[in-house]
Amino acid sequence: MPFNPYTAQDAFPAVDGPKPIGVVGAGYVGLVSAALFAHLGHQVVLMDARPDRIADLRAGRCPIHEPGLPELLARMAAAGRLTYTTSAHDVAHDQELVFLAVGTPPLPNGDADLSQVAGAARMIAPHLSGHTVVVTKSTVPVGTGEQVLGWLLPGLRPGVTVGVASNPEFLREGEALHDALHPDRVVIGADSDLDALPLFEMYAPLERPIVVTTVRSAELIKHAANAFLAMKISFANGLGEMCERVGADVAEVAEGVGADTRIGPAFLKAGIGYGGSCFPKDTLALLATAAEAGLDFTLVRETVATNERQLERFLARVQRRLGNVRGRRIAVLGLAFKPNTDDVRESRAMEVVRRLMEDGADVRAFDPVAMETARAELPALQPTADAYAATEGADAILVLTEWPEFAQLDWGRIAAQSPGRVVFDGRNCLPVARLQAAGFECLGIGRGGHSLSTLGARRLMRAASFRSLAKV
Ligand code: UGA
Repeated sequence: MPFNPYTAQDAFPAVDGPKPIGVVGAGYVGLVSAALFAHLGHQVVLMDARPDRIADLRAGRCPIHEPGLPELLARMAAAGRLTYTTSAHDVAHDQELVFLAVGTPPLPNGDADLSQVAGAARMIAPHLSGHTVVVTKSTVPVGTGEQVLGWLLPGLRPGVTVGVASNPEFLREGEALHDALHPDRVVIGADSDLDALPLFEMYAPLERPIVVTTVRSAELIKHAANAFLAMKISFANGLGEMCERVGADVAEVAEGVGADTRIGPAFLKAGIGYGGSCFPKDTLALLATAAEAGLDFTLVRETVATNERQLERFLARVQRRLGNVRGRRIAVLGLAFKPNTDDVRESRAMEVVRRLMEDGADVRAFDPVAMETARAELPALQPTADAYAATEGADAILVLTEWPEFAQLDWGRIAAQSPGRVVFDGRNCLPVARLQAAGFECLGIGRGGHSLSTLGARRLMRAASFRSLAKV
């Protein structure tokens, strides 16, 4: 039976008994990591310098939108395996491992800003005791491990020793618990076996592949993985542009290409480009690190450029179709950088909205969960109660996040109230035939001259071919 985190009552038995663990930073990564470590049977103290955040957590309020996380945090807190603190002493003293899970936002030149990592390391140093492994979980550039050691050493009390390790996080927002419990791999970077061992013991019960490397390799693996995934997306978007010119369909091409197990189907979905707090920042950070090493990593540079071009192409298409957007009523469905999250950081949808508003469009936006975070970033944004209110009187409808509920909308009802009758499907997530039947022109990404009327028959053929394959 596969392990189900939502129903499991018992934690994993911790190898060699529970470890005392501190986690600094109750952001995305810190919260999920702390919940996971407690779930693995360890004794976890989660620290954040923001008293309001800790007060929320103590009161059982989860500060981020992540399916399953509030329940797991509550269970772990009730079991006495997870406590919250604002105290540097509590998170650092008598711990076997202390994880740094603080933010590393980009500086204007693309470099990662390591000031929070430095601050956390300097803060915990005087409170450490015995031998502690300080593990960087934040996404950091190559060479940060040595810097962390440099920030720790001057603050240590006599007789106290530390090791540094890197344990990058690969979880996706919206799928964080699943990814934490079923990682494709765990990467442990340490320059001595002594420091790698407690991490190995912690993760072994997950029974997933564990890659043990040097600290520098582990740091690079994280940036390289994100850059590669971003490159796949930009490849799909470049392919989409080509499909539009030669009359092919990018979803079909991606399916055919991705069926090659050497390539794989994931992250080949064309759209308005990648956003979020990771890919845009990590591709730039990798480029900056490469430049510092005297290297122009052109493939990653082109990945970033394609992503920017994708947004411009989308906006130009809207402009072309509407003539001028000034004064036109434009409905935007979806603001989060992807579905199942209220995160709008570096969201392509937000960038589209910003640009349309700058050009004088009358934008009415709706997102199922990101309305509040979007308004905090863009107070001029006119919120609406639902997708129907947003699309009332619209000259054009832009779907910018692939929330599954958008495909289920009553598009006939929407057609009756939106005179423009044009939908720009920026994520290729809508049922085109249904929209066309409702009277909409539906403009997707990379869908050149495709006759969708035959899609139903093709689906049947494809299903039949997979069925016959299954029999072999
Ligand atoms: C990403 C990585 O997938 C995680 O492995 C990594 O741990 C995380 O960054 C991180 O560094 O912390 P995340 O940013 O949560 O996770 O989101 P993704 O699901 O990777 O999506 C990123 C962006 O790519 C979204 O805007 C999404 O819409 C876009 N995307 C994704 C596409 O445009 N096409 C695709 O085929 C896939």
